[in-house]
Formats: sequence, structure tokens, C-alpha cells
Amino acid sequence: MRKELERLVELDRERKLVAHIGALLGWDQETGMPPKAVDERSEQLALVESLAHEKSVRPEMGELLEKLGSTTENPGGDASLLPVERAYLRALRRSWDRDTKLPSDLVAEFARATSLGQAAWVQAKKNDDFASFAPHLQKVLDLIKREAACLSPGKPAYDVLLDLYEPGSTELSIRTVFSRLRRDLVAILAKIGSRPKIDDSILRETVGEARQRAASDWLMDVLGYDRLRGRLDVSAHPFTTTLGVDDVRITTRYIPGFFPSSLFSTMHETGHALYELGIAPGAEFRGTELAEAASMAVHESQSRFWENVIGRGEPFWKRNFTHLAELVSPALDGVRREDFVRSINKVEPSFIRTEADEVTYGLHIVLRFELESDLIAGRLAVRDVPEAWRAKAKDLLGLDVRDDVRGCLQDVHWSAGLFGYFPSYALGNLYAAQFADAMRKDIPDLDERVAMGDNASVLEWLRERVHAPGSFWLPGELVEKVTGSPLDPAHFIDYLDRKYSQIYGF
Ligand code: CO
Repeated sequence: MRKELERLVELDRERKLVAHIGALLGWDQETGMPPKAVDERSEQLALVESLAHEKSVRPEMGELLEKLGSTTENPGGDASLLPVERAYLRALRRSWDRDTKLPSDLVAEFARATSLGQAAWVQAKKNDDFASFAPHLQKVLDLIKREAACLSPGKPAYDVLLDLYEPGSTELSIRTVFSRLRRDLVAILAKIGSRPKIDDSILRETVGEARQRAASDWLMDVLGYDRLRGRLDVSAHPFTTTLGVDDVRITTRYIPGFFPSSLFSTMHETGHALYELGIAPGAEFRGTELAEAASMAVHESQSRFWENVIGRGEPFWKRNFTHLAELVSPALDGVRREDFVRSINKVEPSFIRTEADEVTYGLHIVLRFELESDLIAGRLAVRDVPEAWRAKAKDLLGLDVRDDVRGCLQDVHWSAGLFGYFPSYALGNLYAAQFADAMRKDIPDLDERVAMGDNASVLEWLRERVHAPGSFWLPGELVEKVTGSPLDPAHFIDYLDRKYSQIYGF
């Protein structure tokens, strides 16, 4: 079986190489490509993507998987294989099934519908015109249900979709976690609402791009991002992209009148990059499917860990505030560290998910989860989405949504067919808090260390336990392995309660 396994790894690496070439084209498109190059670039991307797909569905791969005993029912294959080999086969079988079970005409129709859907969404958002977007949403919804039926006939469609992003999760498992999360977040929000508001106007001094860039560069170094294996550029929306095992890049954006936006985006994306760069399933499986993240939620846990748990924490700024103030001077001249920390942790319900604070963010996700699960199950009709959104925004966040631009038209996800993706964002926060509690058991003086500038202990802990395994474990297994218990929102709620009772004094 040795020979079969080696050949499989070889084929797997080849398809990853092609995918990374595509990622490089995509990175360039977002960061430096001249605008008029867009037409040929989309042809280049389409070509590379189809090459990557061809390489992903080579019949030889399927034959090798079978020879090694890997089937949909027994993805890990032959029992005599090593645990790491079985984990590899399990990961590859998942991706093989996903890539081969969809008929190509459905894939093409889906690509067309989501491309048109996203264009229609842009227009609808511009004109606050949900009605013009509704038929596109209906089309994408119909197709995604067909896809789910192909991937896993007989299984509820939303379960199939959730499993694509968070392997092992179901509507029921998410609903159980989210109903608890919802109740507790609403309670914390009520306590915060009873206290005086935080004035964060000190964050709105103008800071030019060069100074913000210097602060971002410095923060990447402070968090331990190896710049010989990555770099920072500017794009409209910050992102992280993997172009190779030693090439993981991030982007940020500079808003002159709100410099914290770039600081925290940079820390967020650095967290994603540290994860990708830390994946190390052994030389044998470098650059293979085993060297992929455990899930989108685990990925998001790493970005939020650095952005929020560390980056918005008091200990971090004990060490770093003075230098930040120098870098962005005169914006923070004369500002007290305590006031800076309070300001970057201001909590207030707001309309836009991507601008939400740590407390209200989860409620934005619960809202989307409840709506999309109803849409997929047919409990909610497309034409009723704006009304349902308004009712939930009132119920969860106490907000009166007066237009759909700040309501159901704000996110790109549904037009792109990304149903089942939203829960990952909130699960990421839950994982991050649970990992942090486990870390504190191993490193009881964590806060003191961070306050002294020792972020390396944090990174080392995460690398060994969370990053290195890649997709050796399913996310549910990983969290049990690392923390000793299954995912439990209590860790996140306790974290918020501790932190915000101090900040708001309740
Ligand atoms: Co992220």
C-alpha cells in the first residue's frame, strides 16, 4: 500500500499547486492589478480553476482511494494504516466526494447563477431594491438545494451545507449551541445597556496611511508573523490567502478617520496567517489535503483569538500602547491607556455585521442562521426575507431596520451561494474562548506574560495543539482533544461577562 499512498500524495500535491497558482492570480487581482486587466484575468482564473478541478477529479485518485480501502462509509481506509495516514485518507475522501458528486452541468449552472446573483446583489444594494434581487436569490437557493441532494441524498439540505464548512455539524447541533448563546448574549447586552455609553471619539483622529502602515507592520512582528513567509498589502476588504506552504499573505485597508480599523484587521488576518503557516502534519504530508485547516470556524477562532482575546485585551496594551501612540502620533497624544482600551471595546447594537463588537456580533450570526435555515427548509419564502429580517433585528438587537441596505442586503454570502457559512463566524468566537481557557490552565501567568511582550508563549501553545494537526481531527474532535470537552458556549459567555463587567462596571 506504500506505493499507492505515495502516488496519491503526489497527485494531491499537484492539484494544490494548481490551486495556489489560481490563488496568486486572485491575490494580484485584489491588490495590484490595473483595472483594465479584469477581463483577461477572469479568463485566466477560469482556466486555472478548471485545470485544478480536472486534477481534483482524476479517476486515478478515486482508484487509489479505493485500493487503500477508503470509501464514503469508511473514509480512513485500511485498518492497518498509521493514524496519520488514515487521517489523511479521511480528509482526502471528504474532498474527493465533494468534488466528484456534483454533475458538471449543475456546477456550471451554479457558477452562472451566483455570478449573476452577485452582480444583481450589488445593484440591489446600491438601489435598496430587494425585489430586483429576489428572483436571483430564489434561483441560487433552488440550485444549492439540488447540490445538497447530490452530495448527500436523503439528508436534510441544511445539514449537508453546514457540514461543508464545519464538518460534523448539523442544524440541530448548531441550534442547540446558538439558543444558549442567544439567551446569554441578550442578557449581557441588557446589562451593558443599563450603563453609561462609552465615548470613543479619541479613535476618530485622522491618521495618514503611512503611519497606519507602520503600525500594521509593527503589529505583525509583535504577534510573530514571519515576514519571510508572508507579506501585507492593501485591498478593499481585508483577507488572507495561501499561495504556498511558505507563502501566506494578508491584506488590510486604511481608513484615515478611523485608524483602529486597519490595526484590528491586520491582527485578525495575522491570526489567520499564523494558523496557515503553523500547519505541520509532517514532511510526508506537506502541501496535501491533510495540511488544510480543520474548518472555517477553527480558522476564524485563530483570527479572533489574536484580534480580540489578545489584541483588545488590557495586558496587550500595557506593553504596547506607548509605542502605538508614538507610531500614530499625534492622534493618541495625551490619551490614557485605560481610555484607549475602553474605546476599542465599546459595545453598541448596530446594523452592520462586519462593524459589530464582540458582544453583538454573535446576535448578527444567530439572525442569519435562523433565516437561512428557514429558507433552505422552505419555512420562509424569499419574498418575506426583508420582513423576517426586520422582526429578528428588533427582537435580537433592539434595532429598527428602515432599509434593506442595512438589513438583508448587507452581506454578499447568499448571492454567492454560501448558505451554511455564517455559523462559522460565531463558532470561531466560541472556539477561541474555549481554547483561551485551556491555555490559561497550562500558562497560569498568561496575562503577565502578554503584558511583558511575551506573545511567543501564546503562539507556541496554539501551534502545537491547534495549528500543527491541520485537518488530522474533525473540528469537534480537535476541541475535545485540546480542551478536554466538547464545544460549550459557556466559555465565551464567561469571557464576555468577565471582560465587560470590568469595562462597563456592572
Ligand atoms: Co476572518
